Amino acid sequence: MRLQSSLAAAAATLLLGAGPATAAGGLYSSKSPVMQVDAKSYDDLIRWSNYSSIIEFYAPWCGHCQNLKPAYEKAAEELRGFVNVAAVNCDDPANQSLCQKFGVQGFPTLKFSIPNKKYGGKPFIDDYTLGRTTKHIVGAMIDRMPVHMIRVTDKSIDRWLEDGNSTAKALYFTDKDAPTALAKSVATEFWGALDFTFLRKKEKKFCDMFGVTEFPTLLLLPGGDAPPVKYEGPPTKDAMIEFFSRAATPNSVANKGKKSGPKLSDTAQEPVESHRGKPGAPAAAPTPSGQKQQVSLEQRLRIATLGSEALVRERCLQPSSLNCLLVMLPETDWSGEGYPPDADAALASLRKVREKHAEKDYALFPFWIVTPDNPVQELLRRELDLAPKSELAVVQTNGKKSQAREYASTDYSYAALDNWIDDIRMGGGKRYMIPNHVVKTMEEWNREQQQSGGADEQQQQQQQQQKPIQAEDGHDEL
Ligand SMILES: *[C@@H]1O[C@H](CO)[C@@H](O)[C@H](O)[C@H]1NC(C)=O
Ligand SMILES: *[C@@H]1O[C@H](CO)[C@@H](O)[C@H](O)[C@H]1NC(C)=O
Ligand SMILES: *[C@@H]1O[C@H](CO)[C@@H](O)[C@H](O)[C@H]1NC(C)=O
Repeated sequence: MRLQSSLAAAAATLLLGAGPATAAGGLYSSKSPVMQVDAKSYDDLIRWSNYSSIIEFYAPWCGHCQNLKPAYEKAAEELRGFVNVAAVNCDDPANQSLCQKFGVQGFPTLKFSIPNKKYGGKPFIDDYTLGRTTKHIVGAMIDRMPVHMIRVTDKSIDRWLEDGNSTAKALYFTDKDAPTALAKSVATEFWGALDFTFLRKKEKKFCDMFGVTEFPTLLLLPGGDAPPVKYEGPPTKDAMIEFFSRAATPNSVANKGKKSGPKLSDTAQEPVESHRGKPGAPAAAPTPSGQKQQVSLEQRLRIATLGSEALVRERCLQPSSLNCLLVMLPETDWSGEGYPPDADAALASLRKVREKHAEKDYALFPFWIVTPDNPVQELLRRELDLAPKSELAVVQTNGKKSQAREYASTDYSYAALDNWIDDIRMGGGKRYMIPNHVVKTMEEWNREQQQSGGADEQQQQQQQQQKPIQAEDGHDEL
């Protein structure tokens, strides 16, 4: 049935004053496990939810909708606590704006929504086109649940250990390749509050270290010297949430009674995704165009060099440092013009990425060049397992999260790099932990430099630190 004819039918019903009452007569009763959503509650229940959702747009009189109802309610039952299963009654005039917004043209229309990996970002919404049986819906939506876990392998055990006991962590050991719906939902409940580490059975060192022989096993590392605690309760979400609540507050409790949606502080901490001039702050007006001209486009596109270890540390390796992109130039005997070809290609593409963001006036984290004579190259290449010194390495760092990502391909085209940077902004891509001793405050680092002797060296560092850097654009770093 087309929407137009449904409107006509609704109008006809009204005119004739006969037939079922349009507003009250929804398909799903208030006791139904299917979540009733309207134009008003959509944002709260779906848009800002950290869970994926499937949404049925229906009209109560539509036969296919009535046929779908039992399977849909059963799916809602099975997905309870894992995925929002929602319905919007498009027959109700109050809901029509929502149905129009989603381009609903026939009934039932099923769409799904997957939250952005970056909290507050735009969800991914698409048509659900698979089978309309309970089994299909449940399977498809479990696959589409967000995974808020960091996958760690034996290879990175040392780094992981160094990061160690500073904060509480949850460890999820499994003999499967992917987490179950239950594990995913528990991690989602603690997203932002407790880090979940995903470990497969084949990570022998980890299993041995924690004496894990059964799968799945859930452990809580309370932090500090406290020994790990094994979860022994029943495999239910509520019981697991209660168990981990001793270490962190689940989002559902933290948000009780609050309207959902990002708070200013949440987004202010995470400038990466935020639109310039609008980091979640309703009051922030767009930059007046006069002011914009203070920073020329050319300046905004420049990728400047951080000429010493101190500068790289100061800009990117502090415990408070947000995203940085470091282009580590290779040590080669290249004698041609400009940079060696790979570096040249990468820099040209990265400038284009900056151009794109500048055009749309989007905030973007800073990009820096690090030359091969900078001692920080050796440190980072070694500690982050980057490409050898003779090769270009492009790496993103985040001191605050102690995480890094290396650009793993040698395709330095604009499309490929732009994609990768989008991934970073969405919180995706393969991440590595930066060992604790790499990220430190300038005070700590200066003290170490002093201790390791070399008054000359120290002086030199200080001089370098004072050397003004040509920041490309202060605005971008927000
Ligand atoms: C909109 O749709 C929901 C879900 O079917 C329904 O409960 C509600 O009564 C409809 N109308 C309004 C005004 O929200
Ligand atoms: C979603 O997760 C974020 C943390 O990343 C949290 O701040 C927010 O309160 C959660 N939202 C809901 C509705 O639970
Ligand atoms: C971390 O905690 C474990 C006990 O869970 C302990 O054996 C280990 O020594 C601690 N590591 C550090 C660096 O404190």
